Amino acid sequence: MAKKSFVKKMFSEIAGDYDKLNRIISLNLDLRWRKKAVKLTGKRELVLDICAGTGDMAMIYAQDTIPPKVIVLVDLSPEMLKLAKQKLSEISTKTKSLFIIADGESLPFQSELFDGVIMGFALRNLENIPKFMAELDRITKDNSEMVFLDIAHPENKMVSKLFYLYFYKFVPFFTKFITGKDYAYRYLPSSLRIFYKQKEFIKLLNELGFQDVSYQNILTGIGAIYRIRKRLERK
Ligand SMILES: C[S@@+](CC[C@H](N)C(=O)[O-])C[C@H]1O[C@@H](n2cnc3c(N)ncnc32)[C@H](O)[C@@H]1O
Repeated sequence: MAKKSFVKKMFSEIAGDYDKLNRIISLNLDLRWRKKAVKLTGKRELVLDICAGTGDMAMIYAQDTIPPKVIVLVDLSPEMLKLAKQKLSEISTKTKSLFIIADGESLPFQSELFDGVIMGFALRNLENIPKFMAELDRITKDNSEMVFLDIAHPENKMVSKLFYLYFYKFVPFFTKFITGKDYAYRYLPSSLRIFYKQKEFIKLLNELGFQDVSYQNILTGIGAIYRIRKRLERK
């Protein structure tokens, strides 16, 4: 099965358990990391939450002290987005939210529409990163900010050893125990294992023509937040 179909099927199947597992696996830290990523995105009008899943990035942004006017949540999985819609309808916010089932590598939007993009924990799930980045570049205005949060590769040896032990051994074991569906959470560590290290990902973005690119590690690199500016000249 192609990666995209597999990812869509997997997230659709685990949608109901997704939030609970996120909180347990991250020991509740993901919420704090999400807030940090949202703060870096700053004051924006029209934001795309790409690969939005159950909508946690959008929820935090909508409840921020400087919320955007509109957040558009896009995901491949209708089941994940359905939960996002439910959750966003239950919070108090002035931000309007829209929900669109679509592929991030082929977005149904006109060019230069958004002034901000956020993405949480989805980089490793993408099939074709150059295509995805070209789409984000196309649909964003000049001076847009793109902020991606994801788990990453710790850059401290000791933390790295402990993290891999936790992530590769413990997490798949107990998620199987909770959900009864271990394949999804065996996928989680393997998706990270083959994903770029932070510096490699920055190098790739530079090669794709994104010039103003940076990252900051969280807890020495257990997580990372990437900040990317739109390409100055189209390739
Ligand atoms: C790990 S979840 C992250 C959900 C959410 N952003 C969060 O912060 O919790 C990854 C999400 O990306 C979605 N996804 C993966 N590839 C996609 C693509 N090409 N286009 C749109 N959504 C995609 C999946 O359906 C899934 O909901």
